[in-house]
Amino acid sequence: MQYFEWFATTVTGLEDLAAKEVGEIAGIPVHPDIGKIFFKGTFEHAAVINYSSTLINRVYLLLAREEIETLEDLYRITRRLDYTWIIDPSQTFAVKAERHNKRLPFTSMDAAAWTGRAIIESFKASANIRLKVNLDNPEIEFYCLLRDSEVLLGLDTTGESLHRRYYRVYAHRAGLQPTIASAMIKISGWKRSESLLDPMCGGGTIPIEAAIKLKNISPGLMKRGIRLEKLKFVDLDALKKIKKKIEDSINRDAVADITGSDASPKSIEGAGRNIEAAGVSDTVKLMIRDCLQMDKWLTWEPDHIVTNPPYGIRMNVRDIVGFYRRFIESVLRASPNSKLTIIISKPRTFTSILEEKNYRVTSSREVMYGRLRATIISSER
Ligand SMILES: C[S@@+](CC[C@H](N)C(=O)[O-])C[C@H]1O[C@@H](n2cnc3c(N)ncnc32)[C@H](O)[C@@H]1O
Repeated sequence: MQYFEWFATTVTGLEDLAAKEVGEIAGIPVHPDIGKIFFKGTFEHAAVINYSSTLINRVYLLLAREEIETLEDLYRITRRLDYTWIIDPSQTFAVKAERHNKRLPFTSMDAAAWTGRAIIESFKASANIRLKVNLDNPEIEFYCLLRDSEVLLGLDTTGESLHRRYYRVYAHRAGLQPTIASAMIKISGWKRSESLLDPMCGGGTIPIEAAIKLKNISPGLMKRGIRLEKLKFVDLDALKKIKKKIEDSINRDAVADITGSDASPKSIEGAGRNIEAAGVSDTVKLMIRDCLQMDKWLTWEPDHIVTNPPYGIRMNVRDIVGFYRRFIESVLRASPNSKLTIIISKPRTFTSILEEKNYRVTSSREVMYGRLRATIISSER
């Protein structure tokens, strides 16, 4: 089997967890980097990772990784590669570029245009055919990342990012990225024999991510297809076998004690639709409840409370701090022994409230939540 170099993108702050997950899924060594992970593997490994990972956004075949200073360097590096084994002349392509190094004397649009020209000219020189570009809906997409003093050129094998889950038929206006929700479940240490409650579940992302973990449902497999399936050099029969094996490992009958509640009837109605679409309605219970008065309705003590409160963007600081405090007091009255895992935007304030209430912080990590900086804190008494 032929081994290649790959990289996969993830949420900044979750790289170590993503490396661990991918290492376990594919059984290969994986190296975390900033916002991404690197590994050596076969196309079969890339397929399994695309179908099964819960923390990865996209998987790329690494075509070039070199030092670069100018657009001419970029052209030279990308022009000397052979693309005839990657693209069929009937297929359209596009280049997406991202420039993280703002000192480079050109824009990401320049980088995309010059790389696109290099690919067309390389292909023309080898096969005497001019490739067609389609910027809106290409069949093949290259990713050109410029960071520090290097360029990474990758071939996308995923297509639509894996964080866009198959089950999101209802989009909550403050919906959590499912990759982050999945990481929170891992960080909490929740086991399938334990009970879990998200008392501000919105569209149900956290309970659903717990339930698909429980049933071993691979989120990428449930998508309408990944880009790897369109690559001309990929053995479709081998892919079918990989998919079948992953499908056979789904345990649809597995059930656990997972509950989502929210004060908003609209959110709970939407969460119900997401849970249905996820195929987990037999194991996730939903309730319309106020999380600030949990002692009035919580008749059991969940082993884990895992939750994503409002970020307070529309609240002033005093309101959000007051909300955090009232929430912790409500948890303490109703379920003092639950382990609490929470994603919040004001970690210092939140930690001091936790400490004041005799909670011990067991882990704390910063993640980039879109453009927002947020912190996942786990604590127990
Ligand atoms: C950031 S959103 C959660 C989004 C959710 N994680 C998702 O992915 O869809 C915060 C949620 O807290 C809920 N909320 C705010 N105050 C609440 C309260 N007192 N009791 C219960 N839920 C509340 C809001 O209705 C909102 O759905």
